[in-house]
Amino acid sequence: MVGAVDKHLALIGFMGAGKSTIGRELARLTHRPFVDTDEEIEKRFGPISELFERGEPEFRRIEEQVLMETLAGPTAVIALGGGAVLSEATRKRLRRTAFVAWVTVDVDTAWSRVRDSGRPLARDREQFGRLFEERAVLYDVLAQGTGQAADHLLLESLHFIFSSEMASDAVVIADERVAQLHELPVVGPVMLTTHLVPAGERAKTPAVVDRLWNELELGREGWIVGFGGGSTTDVAGFTAATYLRGVRWVAVPTTLVGMVDAAIGGKTGINTEQGKNLAGAFHFPWEVRIDPRFLATLPAEERRAGMAEVVKTGLLAGEPLWELPDDDMIRACAAFKSAVVISDPYEREGRRAVLNLGHTFAHALEAGSGYEFRHGDAVALGLLAALRLSGRPTDVVQEVLAPEPVRVDRDRAWDALLHDKKGALNLVLLGDEGGYVASVPERDVKRALDELIAD
Ligand SMILES: NC(=O)c1ccc[n+]([C@@H]2O[C@H](COP(=O)([O-])OP(=O)(O)OC[C@H]3O[C@@H](n4cnc5c(N)ncnc54)[C@H](O)[C@@H]3O)[C@@H](O)[C@H]2O)c1
Ligand SMILES: [Zn+2]
Repeated sequence: MVGAVDKHLALIGFMGAGKSTIGRELARLTHRPFVDTDEEIEKRFGPISELFERGEPEFRRIEEQVLMETLAGPTAVIALGGGAVLSEATRKRLRRTAFVAWVTVDVDTAWSRVRDSGRPLARDREQFGRLFEERAVLYDVLAQGTGQAADHLLLESLHFIFSSEMASDAVVIADERVAQLHELPVVGPVMLTTHLVPAGERAKTPAVVDRLWNELELGREGWIVGFGGGSTTDVAGFTAATYLRGVRWVAVPTTLVGMVDAAIGGKTGINTEQGKNLAGAFHFPWEVRIDPRFLATLPAEERRAGMAEVVKTGLLAGEPLWELPDDDMIRACAAFKSAVVISDPYEREGRRAVLNLGHTFAHALEAGSGYEFRHGDAVALGLLAALRLSGRPTDVVQEVLAPEPVRVDRDRAWDALLHDKKGALNLVLLGDEGGYVASVPERDVKRALDELIAD
């Protein structure tokens, strides 16, 4: 399984790196339990300095025992003591059960943070420096990701790479328009075979997948690159999920929607005659390669569609992410979605539902327009309705997205909304702590929908 999906998120690193602080933040964002092994040891066996007085081996034995128990428990965020990885058994178990992230720090910063803490291994600057060098070698071998902040580690834990350079042979499934505008940069003697699919949504059909199944010449070890917007990555991912019962794939999104939403989270799929995304699979991309330079050629209306998802994400995160420059904005949005995805990878616990803020209304408007109305523009209006029902100001949506009521068939939109819900009207609303699901009286929902529709 990819990265931290279904696995612990284990933080290793030197004392003073900030593992506990970052770990607590990661646990909050991913709704996972947090275990700080040092704290756990102190809770159960008393102060670490006293345990150390009985000799370091005794302490390490206890540490290993506590860690093994934690690793056998439910998926958590775990901050490990700096020396925990000295144990070979621990390292082995970590490799199998955790995504291991190295929280890096420079030696002077680490020393300034712990010199007065009374920790047994932080009493002498010179010895501290030597230990720092020794441990770095161990961390380096074990780490699957590194970073100094929660955001960054979240991206690493789902294998985000901020470069589109290909360094290995692959079959590329590319949006035909994107393939005319951009090339994937390659390093080394790399062979890329390209299969073109129709631009945008028209690629998401059984006929296109059928053609790809027959055209692809890949072994079980081969991998597929999806190069285009969300439509292309959806169809490339679905093809990868089904070809030879599943091969690895890499997403290289070229739209803003792709970078902040569609390429993240393992949902892949195509449309059937019955509707959108009705055939699909969870199949996490092995890597998500982000290169904001692709956005230079993106038409304005496609960018606007992406900004609707950015505003949605910023509202949920409680931060004005839409104000950031592209690179930072994409990182922050992708990290937020990654955290939600890691909290509930297969949508079994309903946590991913918050990502649907505004979407019930959006889907209704799309249906009411016979699917002529663009998803992003529908989301912008949907956000207005969701904020109104949440009793929150709508000025951000007005200022950044400036949505206008749209002329669609009211009855069809309402029928679609009711059909979508089947029974109680549960909507995602926004509160002080972010998104939550609540039941809303039918007439309030109807009024909110009506306000989005022009006569
Ligand atoms: N899997 C998921 O979790 C998920 C999430 C959100 C959306 N989606 C899906 O994503 C699809 C929408 O994707 P999208 O909004 O990224 O658009 P898209 O892939 O449909 O592309 C839209 C248009 O932009 C063009 N294009 C793409 N990149 C370009 C570039 N760099 N320069 C110029 N033109 C470019 C395409 O050729 C197309 O004409 C929908 O089918 C939706 O269901 C999936
Ligand atoms: Zn959306």
